[in-house]
Amino acid sequence: MDSVLSIKDLTKKYGRITAVNNLSLEIKKGTVFGLLGPNGSGKTTTLGIILDVINRTSGEYQWFGEAPSKEHRKRIGAILETPIFYPYLSATDNLKIVAEIKQVPTDNIDHVLRQVDLYERKDDKFKTYSLGMKQRLSIGSALLCNPTVMILDEPTNGLDPQGIAEIRKLIIEIAKDGKTIILASHLLDEVQKVCSHFAVLKKGKMIYTGLVEDVSKGEETIEVFAEDENLEQLLNDYEGIKNINFDHNKWIVSLHDGHNSITLNAYLIANKITVSHLVTQKKSLEKQFLEVLAASDE
Ligand SMILES: Nc1ncnc2c1ncn2[C@@H]1O[C@H](COP(=O)(O)OP(=O)(O)O)[C@@H](O)[C@H]1O
Ligand SMILES: [Mg+2]
Repeated sequence: MDSVLSIKDLTKKYGRITAVNNLSLEIKKGTVFGLLGPNGSGKTTTLGIILDVINRTSGEYQWFGEAPSKEHRKRIGAILETPIFYPYLSATDNLKIVAEIKQVPTDNIDHVLRQVDLYERKDDKFKTYSLGMKQRLSIGSALLCNPTVMILDEPTNGLDPQGIAEIRKLIIEIAKDGKTIILASHLLDEVQKVCSHFAVLKKGKMIYTGLVEDVSKGEETIEVFAEDENLEQLLNDYEGIKNINFDHNKWIVSLHDGHNSITLNAYLIANKITVSHLVTQKKSLEKQFLEVLAASDE
């Protein structure tokens, strides 16, 4: 059974607001799953529900194919908010306290500190750390119990570019260790850089889910124009035609597999049409997501 998390018809209402709207998704072992959506799209609420810190209104979820239990929770390392560390204590001493609270052995601490690249600074007081180091210590504290699943909510928020790069590298390394990672982010490029799979949320609804590697693929459209009144008819008659629209003084066509601007042009020439405009445009998913993400910022 390689299902790590299975969510079915999950809904959360806060009065009139539906924060999570009938969400279903499946996360398999070893994936780095991105929950992508603008602020307010329901990411944190979803994570809160599956971590049992927020009550759902309706729907179900299962961890590892079973009804959620305290035992499962021990296999999950999560950072929803920056944990509170003692400013005057070192990283080591802070992690000792965490280990005590979580009732996990302290012998893992040095290993974790190396993992999050804080070993050299382990004896320095927490308050002397940069924001990125503080965030790495948070991740370290979630790693202490050697979880099989890591949940990270906007892990690079507020960090400078170097801090962001370090956290992303760390997440990728944790994933290489074989852990399943669930990451919420409003940044498409973050999801693209670290995730293998993702779902896009908008106003609590899932509007897309798929493989990250497919994001840049997207469908090609071809813009065509010719000073010829037969053009529209010929385009419609073309065997490769999938879709055709007139926009901004040109035809925007999409073609079936095996057809492209070259085959289309050859067809038009064979029918005695010389085009004055022929341009291939790639409408990537990326572009579509950026539109979705931008639209919801209003
Ligand atoms: N405790 C709460 N009470 C009322 N509304 C809330 C509460 N928490 C979140 N919301 C609302 O639920 C929606 C989803 O919020 P959230 O899950 O935090 O989104 P995200 O993490 O994607 O930014 C938002 O409209 C937010 O205002
Ligand atoms: Mg959030």
